[in-house]
Amino acid sequence: MHEMTAANLRSAFGGESMAHMRYKVWGAKAGAEGYPNVARLFVAIASAEQVHATGHFKAMKDVGGAFLVAAGGGFGLTATSENLAGAIQGENFEVAEMYPSYIAVAEDQDEKAAVRSCRYALEAEKLHAALYTRAKEAVDAGKDVELAAVQVCSVCGHTVEGDAPDACPICAAVKAKFTAFE
Ligand SMILES: [Fe+2]
Ligand SMILES: [Fe+2]
Repeated sequence: MHEMTAANLRSAFGGESMAHMRYKVWGAKAGAEGYPNVARLFVAIASAEQVHATGHFKAMKDVGGAFLVAAGGGFGLTATSENLAGAIQGENFEVAEMYPSYIAVAEDQDEKAAVRSCRYALEAEKLHAALYTRAKEAVDAGKDVELAAVQVCSVCGHTVEGDAPDACPICAAVKAKFTAFE
């Protein structure tokens, strides 16, 4: 694997791993504040970030060794509205800058596994930003978000509310590959 693509994937792995943990912490905080649906949303999206981290890790399976990894990640444990603002900011950065740049490099270097794992993440992060924005609007209005079951594709991290689709629109995985958070 080309070094630039490998470095980008390591950073993306770091970022997704941190997001996974950060959303679990923020989810527990939302639950403690009396927003069970926001808590459930954080936990569902945390699982999608785990899918992304796993995909990046597998794409780098031939690049072993220990590395110092620089990865962006938000910090701070504040009120749920502010935590949601941090989540939205992080997701939007990944959508607007990080993954498009990583995909461009991976395409230039003909690294197909990296292109795929970054595309999967890019598509899911768009949905995460929208879901978190809805949640923040509800919390800022003093109530929990209305939220049906949240379905997460275990192959690509696609995150959708309601029933799982017969086939994932991003990776074509069958319905049974979706995990419901309800
Ligand atoms: Fe995300
Ligand atoms: Fe999928």
